[in-house]
Amino acid sequence: MFLCFYNLETNGQQLNDYKLWLKYEQITDSKLSASYKDISSKIVVGNSTPSLLNAKEELALALPQMLGTDIDFLSAIDKGNALIVDVYQNLPVDLKSAVSMEMMDVKGDGFVLKSVKLTNKKVTVITAKTDLGVLYGTFRFLHLMQSQHLLDDLKVVDNPKLDIRMLNHWDNLDRSVERGYAGSSLWNWQKLPEYVDQRYIDYARANASVGINATALTNVNANALILTPMYLEKVKALADIFRSYGIKVYLTARFSAPMEIGGLETADPLNAQVQQWWKDKAKEIYAIVPDFGGFLVKANSEGQPGPQNYGRNHVDGANMMAEAVKPFGGNVIWRAFVYSEHDDTDRAKQAYDEFLPYDGNFMDNVLVQVKNGPIDFQPREPFHPIFGAMKKTPLIMEFQITQEYLGFSTHLVYLPKLFEEVLDADTFQKGEGSTVAKVIDGSLYGNKLTGMAGVSNIGTDINWTGHPFAQANWYGFGRLAWDPYLSANTIAEEWLRATYSNEEEFVDPIKEMMLDSREAVVNYMNPLGLHHIFDTGHHYGPGPWVDNLGRPDWNPVYYHKADSLGVGFDRTPSGSNATEQYASEIAVQYNDPKTIPQEYLLWFHHLPWDYKLENGEILWDAIALKYQEGVDQVTQMIKTWDRMKPYLSENEYKEVSMLLEIQLKEAKWWRDACLLYFQTFSNRPLPTGVERPTKSLEYFKSLKFPFAPGIRPRWD
Ligand code: GCU
Repeated sequence: MFLCFYNLETNGQQLNDYKLWLKYEQITDSKLSASYKDISSKIVVGNSTPSLLNAKEELALALPQMLGTDIDFLSAIDKGNALIVDVYQNLPVDLKSAVSMEMMDVKGDGFVLKSVKLTNKKVTVITAKTDLGVLYGTFRFLHLMQSQHLLDDLKVVDNPKLDIRMLNHWDNLDRSVERGYAGSSLWNWQKLPEYVDQRYIDYARANASVGINATALTNVNANALILTPMYLEKVKALADIFRSYGIKVYLTARFSAPMEIGGLETADPLNAQVQQWWKDKAKEIYAIVPDFGGFLVKANSEGQPGPQNYGRNHVDGANMMAEAVKPFGGNVIWRAFVYSEHDDTDRAKQAYDEFLPYDGNFMDNVLVQVKNGPIDFQPREPFHPIFGAMKKTPLIMEFQITQEYLGFSTHLVYLPKLFEEVLDADTFQKGEGSTVAKVIDGSLYGNKLTGMAGVSNIGTDINWTGHPFAQANWYGFGRLAWDPYLSANTIAEEWLRATYSNEEEFVDPIKEMMLDSREAVVNYMNPLGLHHIFDTGHHYGPGPWVDNLGRPDWNPVYYHKADSLGVGFDRTPSGSNATEQYASEIAVQYNDPKTIPQEYLLWFHHLPWDYKLENGEILWDAIALKYQEGVDQVTQMIKTWDRMKPYLSENEYKEVSMLLEIQLKEAKWWRDACLLYFQTFSNRPLPTGVERPTKSLEYFKSLKFPFAPGIRPRWD
């Protein structure tokens, strides 16, 4: 059942890529392999539930591949060593007492892996309170094997630190994916519900292997049709597959659905008929999908309808829907990504201004979903000031895994580095150490519901994510949603060992390359706090000159504010005063260009071109040198990858190598286009060390990409 049915006429590498980090390659170290065989050649799996069956099938797939032997599934332990995989309550008494101490630390779907010595034999136990916990433990056990850890003396207790660990698919019903760079949507709505693509199962396996337990199937720019009976049958088919992997389905709810598919004349949340419509809809959904997670809502944002269309507010809208799903245990995830076209103050301030007054007014099954930064998934943003400030409302972090502003799926950018930076940021809202991670895991203010959402980078490409290294971003997101305190370093190492190789000579340099890749993209796209200088609409490539869009805050010139005097957005008290939304410790530090971390300089300050930085460089030179540094970092990545040839198959080597060449070409494009443009204001020469552009600014401005991926498809 698990073996990929993708025996397409395609090269072996792509097939290999399809398997993600679940490749289960043969362990060639004979000593290690022997010790693993000793542990796991006889296995007892409790088989009472679908999740335990999944654990069994995963073991049945993985172990023969890794160990090159058959394994015996027994119904009870006999004489020799054995691996026991079952929920705690079903363990034999002697094993129960052997793991009882560890079990006291298990929470929710957490698990225990433990080596236990019984008379004359050794038993390795994978157990948990829930069968899903056992499945998670099984995946972890297999991962430890894949990454060649010694398993003779196992003692692992691990719990998920967040409740909702979810992917947000921005997938449309026509199978296009907004900001998707890896093919079409996985959800084949036309063939569903009858046709169950193996991909749905492999998707669920991959998610469960890192603990992802929720998926919003549809785009936040929602289509109400998904809530009609015909589509709900299809949703049910997916939910039925995902259930035994512990994944709950959420749907995006279009606020105007009562009018579009319900025949009502209004969608006013205070209207009794509208309220009843949502209640009936929830009842209908739960009758079909009893463990439905709830609704994800983008309202009054970028043209989406919402409560404000009726003079109501976010609380009215969210609570109305929350009321509807509450009897069934559902949640409403209400997005805080709002900025009004009628508000000409700083866009970075608007979500905070709009949502803070509502703190404490949402029902207890509402979570507010906040993007990591106050603008929009830029290569680097300061953390969103709502984190830590909104104390009584559970906040769910929204990261973007798909690389809308980070080079699509052609640039190798390891995102856990970005996620880690945000999670580790100190909000100071309850004194020093009030990190964003503590806000979202609920420990800072004792919020009951917690979660993290990642805008998916997954599509129908055989390798799922477009770039083989983008798989690490899916993996890493899942790991951080499980434990937001994990380091990007640890995660990179885990992923590399499971995906490519355990050779230190490969893992160490490639891990370094991954860890540096995020700073590289910041340098060649948006150095020193520059932001949102992407080309219009599709966001492919640079467009700092764009100034003709309908709304001021859609134009790059709004964000960099370059003029003959300088560059940058003044968000200090002399400008928009966005710094006041942060704790005073941060505001004071950020208000002064001498003390603000340099990476946020132009996010918060408009400074003269000849402003002197701490290292003695003037601002213009520093910007230019950073762009060059970014390009140099990509060149370095290419060199590193080249050195790894001996550890890679020809195809593995080639596919990343071709992509890195595109990345280099585009990094140079960014450098040259931005520097030529900013030079028209700075009127200064490029400093020594910065390569001279070979094309003109006019050339870069003339580039048009009407068919760039990730935007609404056109036929003409
Ligand atoms: C960005 C993105 C949109 C998306 C929006 C959102 O603006 O470009 O495509 O719809 O974020 O998060 O809602």
